[in-house]
Amino acid sequence: MFNADDLKNGFVDDLKNVKNEVQLSEFWKKFFSKQGSIQGLMSGIKNVAKEEKKAYGQFVNDVKTWAQELYDNKKAEIEKAALQARYKKEEVDVTVPPVHEPVGCLHPLTTVKYEMINVFAGMGFEIFEGPEIEDDDHNFTRLNVLKDHPSRDMQDTFWLTDDLLLRTHTSPGQIRVMDKEKPPIKVLVPGKVFRSDSDATHSPMFSQLEGLVVDKHITLCDLQGMLDEFVKNMFSDTAKTRLRPSYFPFTEPSVEVDVSCFRCGGKGCSLCKGTGWIEVLGGGVVNKKVLENCGIDPEKYSGLAFGIGIERITMLKYGINHMGKMFENDIEFLKQFKA
Ligand code: DAH
Repeated sequence: MFNADDLKNGFVDDLKNVKNEVQLSEFWKKFFSKQGSIQGLMSGIKNVAKEEKKAYGQFVNDVKTWAQELYDNKKAEIEKAALQARYKKEEVDVTVPPVHEPVGCLHPLTTVKYEMINVFAGMGFEIFEGPEIEDDDHNFTRLNVLKDHPSRDMQDTFWLTDDLLLRTHTSPGQIRVMDKEKPPIKVLVPGKVFRSDSDATHSPMFSQLEGLVVDKHITLCDLQGMLDEFVKNMFSDTAKTRLRPSYFPFTEPSVEVDVSCFRCGGKGCSLCKGTGWIEVLGGGVVNKKVLENCGIDPEKYSGLAFGIGIERITMLKYGINHMGKMFENDIEFLKQFKA
């Protein structure tokens, strides 16, 4: 005959060994499923004498209630332990300092180039980019730098063939634009240029921003007005420009442009070498011969042009004392330009 104590003892012993949710589900199958021992108690009723059936039913119900309660307690205990273990695993220490992922930034030359372009874009300039490999015609001849003219020596050229070269300045962009478009013209030509030259303030590769305006009645005053606006935006609200006579074959008259020293305000310091002025660019009124070379009537139109060294402006702005710094990709140097 069936022994209730054996069942109960077995139940209690097995339950003691249940340590996790998997074992709990095994345990449930063993005792509570249709084939389980407790369910089996109920089917035993058919072997019980009629008059005892009621008492037997009551007994089975009591066992069920007893077992269910123990089972529920165990289940709650295991679930709690599982939750605790999960909390432990997912614990976040909010006092640990965050790990900063390194984020890059623009190269100072790029930043300054964009700033320069922005200032001129505000005055209505558009952008044109010419090729880095040029021919003699665009780089020299049509800019009025004739063959055997001594001014060719001003720029130490990297020749590729008798005719092809690495452009020594962005000025050939002027020719390319005037070949394609008729006045009014207002363009910027940014880009890399190349010269066989290397020291603290020169590099065999550097970058320029060329400007060209061609329209009716353009004068040197327009050039100075635009450059005043440029230096105010780039250096300081109180910066001014000063034009000094100079010589470039493609402009007549030609000027060298100085900016009033934005560090000392013009009193004289180490940056301006005591003069109160810093040379920043070259420019002038476009030489009539250059306009003619591009099929533009110099009696009808006039132009202004300028060429600015982007490295030079960057060095002045940030107090960088060696040109090479900008091309070495030294991460410690570059990190300083993070916003
Ligand atoms: N191309 C000259 C250079 O590289 C700079 C320059 C001077 C550009 C006068 C101009 C200009 O457009 O008008 O030295």
